[in-house]
Amino acid sequence: MHTYTVPGLKADEGKKVAEALQDRLNALNDLHLTLKHIHWNVVGPNFIAVHEMLDPQVDTVRGFADDVAERIATLGAVATGTPGALVKNRTWNEYSIGRADTIEHLGALDLVYAGVIEGHRAAITATGKIDPVTEDLLIGQSGKLELFHWFVRAHLENSGGELSTRGAKTEKTAAKKAS
Ligand SMILES: [Fe+2]
Repeated sequence: MHTYTVPGLKADEGKKVAEALQDRLNALNDLHLTLKHIHWNVVGPNFIAVHEMLDPQVDTVRGFADDVAERIATLGAVATGTPGALVKNRTWNEYSIGRADTIEHLGALDLVYAGVIEGHRAAITATGKIDPVTEDLLIGQSGKLELFHWFVRAHLENSGGELSTRGAKTEKTAAKKAS
């Protein structure tokens, strides 16, 4: 159901942009829950540093989800925020690590952030020509997500600038390489 969109866009353009944004809303909702899950399940010597590093990221990502959802509504579409729809429509797997050492979670989180940021880049490309306002929103978010990704990667990097997770394709492999 799509009866209006923002002035200057055709209805089908508004719909296309909203669809790209719904995928980003799913990614951000998933990320915010995953970050809290990690906040609760890290153990080991660096517990408090990592536990406390994550909460500002949770808050920022939660805010990003709100901004994306409200852009979808502004475009005249429905912003779906229910967990069942998220799980049904996401193209990535559930975060796969439970209680584990801080460095293992950070290794896995390196891959999680990479996936979200790649998705944002793809959405910027898909929406930029149609709707620069959405593009601007996603560009702003990408800069902050990349910064958070660096906070994670700084734990995984040696003085030569190499990442311990290099080449890992799954969270479990990344966690193992990181430890
Ligand atoms: Fe907490």
